[in-house]
Amino acid sequence: MENSVLHDLDPGSLRIDPMALFDKQWFLLTSGDFAAGRYNTMPVSWGSLGTVWNKPFVQVFCRPQRHTYRFMKTFPTFTLSAFRPACREALQLLGGKSGKDGNKIVESGLTPVAAQRVAAPTFAEAELVFECNKMHAQFLDPKGFQTPAIEANYPSQDYHCVFFGEILAVRGVSSYAAE
Ligand SMILES: Cc1cc2nc3c(=O)[nH]c(=O)nc-3n(C[C@H](O)[C@H](O)[C@H](O)COP(=O)(O)O)c2cc1C
Repeated sequence: MENSVLHDLDPGSLRIDPMALFDKQWFLLTSGDFAAGRYNTMPVSWGSLGTVWNKPFVQVFCRPQRHTYRFMKTFPTFTLSAFRPACREALQLLGGKSGKDGNKIVESGLTPVAAQRVAAPTFAEAELVFECNKMHAQFLDPKGFQTPAIEANYPSQDYHCVFFGEILAVRGVSSYAAE
């Protein structure tokens, strides 16, 4: 697959559509330690980008049965990586299998590579990468649901763990840089 030249980008001036990035393009959420060879990844389409505690941050939602959740719980950093449409099949494969059942990353054809500021890896084929330090993690409490319909997402009561990550670095192809 084609490699991309990524530039350091300012998180405060990106040319992105956060809703489309999550909902349409999807991210790979990757946690663990690349140097130690311990990491896992999965696609996520629920999340947000913004500001909290005066820091640029991302928020991702991870159900507890995901293999990736174990890494998110254990390791202090994670990355979010976005890809061009040519990698869509790889993302679908990574979202249809669990890392606990075999090496789905090898099967996907994507190439894990070291990130620049965090231990969690990203991928050589990524066109946009957020490198994050875990700031907060908490399971959703259904007592907080203000709209009863939300409960329909949880027939097995497997409420997401919501992770906040401080964005330590953003790298991307030049089209993601604000002019
Ligand atoms: C497009 C797409 C978006 C997804 N978004 C999420 C998400 O936001 N949160 C989540 O917990 N699972 C999400 N999933 C499901 C996981 O990616 C999927 O269960 C994956 O196989 C888990 O892999 P793992 O067990 O190796 O962690 C999504 C799957 C797809 C295909």
